[in-house]
Amino acid sequence: MSDLLLTEIDHVAIAVNDLEAAIAWYGEVFGATVDHRERVESDGVEEALLKVADSYVQLLTPIRDDSPVAKYLANKGEGLHHVGYRVDDCAVALQAVKDGGGRVIDEAPRPGSRGTTVAFVHPKTSFGTLIELVQE
Ligand code: CO
Repeated sequence: MSDLLLTEIDHVAIAVNDLEAAIAWYGEVFGATVDHRERVESDGVEEALLKVADSYVQLLTPIRDDSPVAKYLANKGEGLHHVGYRVDDCAVALQAVKDGGGRVIDEAPRPGSRGTTVAFVHPKTSFGTLIELVQE
């Protein structure tokens, strides 16, 4: 199968300790404004999406100590956390990863922020990048 499953960069997610400070910095330096903000209780994070063309910069901070993003910040510090690729069908793209021998974090698509359907792919088999498949 060689059909292109990725249609756009949906977002680049950056883990930060201080969400307000990061939002202010992007605003002051680049004039970026918050397009969407959401607490995702299931993932233990609060996110702010700054629109850049048809994609987003997603600033991400933990709201609980057991959040994966809290562990990430403790281990690696602030920085690039994952890349969200937009897909037409999350289930199809996830199956393609599995068929290719890739390791997944989500066995099946699940609800993401702003009404999307998402699935995470483990960085171990994707060259060190945590990938989120995002279906709008
Ligand atoms: Co994301």
